Amino acid sequence: MVKRKDDCPMNPQEVLKQMTLEEKAAFCSGRDFWRTKAVERLQVPSVMMCDGPHGLRKQEGEGDHLGINKSIETVCYPSAAALASSFDRQVMTELGEALGQECQAENVAMLLGPGLNIKRSPLCGRNFEYFSEDPCLAGEMAAAYVQALQSKGIAACAKHFACNDQETLRMSGSSNLDERTLREIYLSAFETVVKKGKTRSLMCAYNAVNGTFCAENKLLLSDILRDDWGSDAFVVTDWGAVKDRAKGIAAGLDLEMPGGPNATGEEIVQAVQAGTLAEADLDKAVLRILTFVRDSMEQRQPDAEIDRTECRKLARRLAGECAVLMKNEGILPLKENQSVAFIGEFAEKPRYQGAGSSHINVPHAVGALEIAGDSVLYARAYDAHSETTDPALLTEAVEAAKKCDVAVIFAGLPEAFETEGADREHMRLPDNQNELITAVTAANPHTVVVLHGGSPMELPWLSQAPAVLCVYLGGEQVGAATVDLLYGHVNPSGHLAETWPIRVQDNPSYLNFPGEEGVVTYAEGIYVGYRYYDKKEMPVNFCFGHGLSYTHFDYSNLQVDKESLTDQETLTVTVDVTNTGACPGKAAVQLYVRDRESTARRPVRELRDFAKVDLQPGECKTVTFTLDKRAFAYWETKCHDFYVESGEFVIEIGESSRDIRASRAVQVEGTTLLSFTVTETTTIGQLLKHPKGKAIIGGMMGSSAMAHVDQSDSMGEGSERMMQGMMMGIPLGALVSYGRLTPEQLKGLIASLNE
Ligand code: BGC
Repeated sequence: MVKRKDDCPMNPQEVLKQMTLEEKAAFCSGRDFWRTKAVERLQVPSVMMCDGPHGLRKQEGEGDHLGINKSIETVCYPSAAALASSFDRQVMTELGEALGQECQAENVAMLLGPGLNIKRSPLCGRNFEYFSEDPCLAGEMAAAYVQALQSKGIAACAKHFACNDQETLRMSGSSNLDERTLREIYLSAFETVVKKGKTRSLMCAYNAVNGTFCAENKLLLSDILRDDWGSDAFVVTDWGAVKDRAKGIAAGLDLEMPGGPNATGEEIVQAVQAGTLAEADLDKAVLRILTFVRDSMEQRQPDAEIDRTECRKLARRLAGECAVLMKNEGILPLKENQSVAFIGEFAEKPRYQGAGSSHINVPHAVGALEIAGDSVLYARAYDAHSETTDPALLTEAVEAAKKCDVAVIFAGLPEAFETEGADREHMRLPDNQNELITAVTAANPHTVVVLHGGSPMELPWLSQAPAVLCVYLGGEQVGAATVDLLYGHVNPSGHLAETWPIRVQDNPSYLNFPGEEGVVTYAEGIYVGYRYYDKKEMPVNFCFGHGLSYTHFDYSNLQVDKESLTDQETLTVTVDVTNTGACPGKAAVQLYVRDRESTARRPVRELRDFAKVDLQPGECKTVTFTLDKRAFAYWETKCHDFYVESGEFVIEIGESSRDIRASRAVQVEGTTLLSFTVTETTTIGQLLKHPKGKAIIGGMMGSSAMAHVDQSDSMGEGSERMMQGMMMGIPLGALVSYGRLTPEQLKGLIASLNE
């Protein structure tokens, strides 16, 4: 790291003043794959960034963004899909701190991540790098990680901003969606990582949103990120995402990566000289990059060290926090005196991370077999690079299963099935693994299936398998953590951050994934993941938030500090959680909010907060949540803001979106009045929902103006409901046709309602 001679950090404003137009333009592109440019004349150093986020991919030799060339040997932690299942901010804090320390020791100023795109479809090839189908969980987990990483003086880079939810045509396609869906589902997690996590940087996505590439999308980069969310984070492109340099700068983009010797900034200079780009916009970009470089210099710890042995212990512990016990008909945990067969190549060589730019170079990944050693019988059972059953391997596996009290099958998605750059073609396991599980469960009913992979799978044999443990892509120590969990040395406490549908066809995006001719329409709108499945009451294999434990938790004494409140106040919610079982365990307490009645379309319930609680047998702890306006709001396009419609809401505490254990109603009054223009087509029903309309039109109800429908006597049973329905549907203009108002009276009425 180049340091100023007087060892004082530079002053970005002063440096900016001294830079020439050419220097400023060139400074907005990287020096090479991983570094910003230095401005030696002004003692501005070059700083390094590296891929993360579940390890450090520092390339000292030739750089690439596809995970092809070698990076330093280091520790691979669980991937985001696994981490999210911990439902534990503390897990993210520990990971962020460890990686921050490692970046300091390796002189890396920024770690590229976390990735917080929403899991719209289980088929997205990069789902393993993303957290959840739910923006609250994704945003909160990401914010905890960012705060921890940045507490060590290392910048985070939240990516890929935004709507980069598939790999098909990831560099050129357009994700098209409506305003409410964008704000409520796809931007919310980014909003949290910006406002709460205070991320120092964001990476703009390759794709376009509603036809405008993210790298030149003023709505995203300036109007929302800076003006609306108040962020001073600098925006770096995804590697090679730039289309029109000058347009990008004008839209709010700062740094182009990877840049390189050809990225001279000539285009930018020409645009400024031609008057098509304001130099002030360029200055803003330069200042933001300079500020990042200055902050990195200020926070640099040249003496920092990293103890990778300790990191490996952490990786094992974190993997144990992330695994989800999906099913357990009493056969787990295994007992030390049972004879056990480990079946499947993943017991020996586990799947532990995904392919692409997040690929971490580890000296060794630990398989469960290595830990269990001679205490188990092993059968390889399948070739992880093949989808076809090898009869000899299958027979050997069935024989091993028959010989033992319990069989544990290590199954999951092979590496080729999910990767950056390509979406999955289906949601199935390879045929040879399905055949194996069917044969082994038939041979030995005491069979546990351990699943590896970054995204849901179809489980056709589910009813035959008495226990299923999903370890996702749990990092290099996944095998050790699996043994810890199987034998009960660690009590499983992960919960699903995504629904596991029965078939991929059930997924709400199915008819619109991955789109056509480069355009994908998010036609399902806000109904992503459980918001859809729960609204449709659709059977799923495992619902959002589901996860079992070797103990049980009881939820009681749910309290709210107010029975009614306005959307300007906060609500404090407390609930007691008790471990009613015989072993220590961790509960993932999930708080959902349900809007009882709404004129807008709303999901059944939405996750608004969560907490992980560690409890000894018999122990009880009180968990406290604080909810604000956003917990009750939806994005209202009439006011282009989050909006609360007055009414009753239910606070629900659950162990999953379909296992609500306690609930409590509160009355929330929205304080925003929506603008309301009355016309001849406005109905009586619409008017009655608006305070002013209600005051005026309410008085007219039952008067002679409404008398034309007063024929209830002759209409038989149900007439009252029908009358009500018909009345509510009458447009004001029709009152003239019915001869109940003159055209002049109607005009006057509309004018006074619009006053
Ligand atoms: C990926 C990014 C990554 C970058 C640098 C891109 O292809 O989309 O997530 O950070 O490469 O490797």
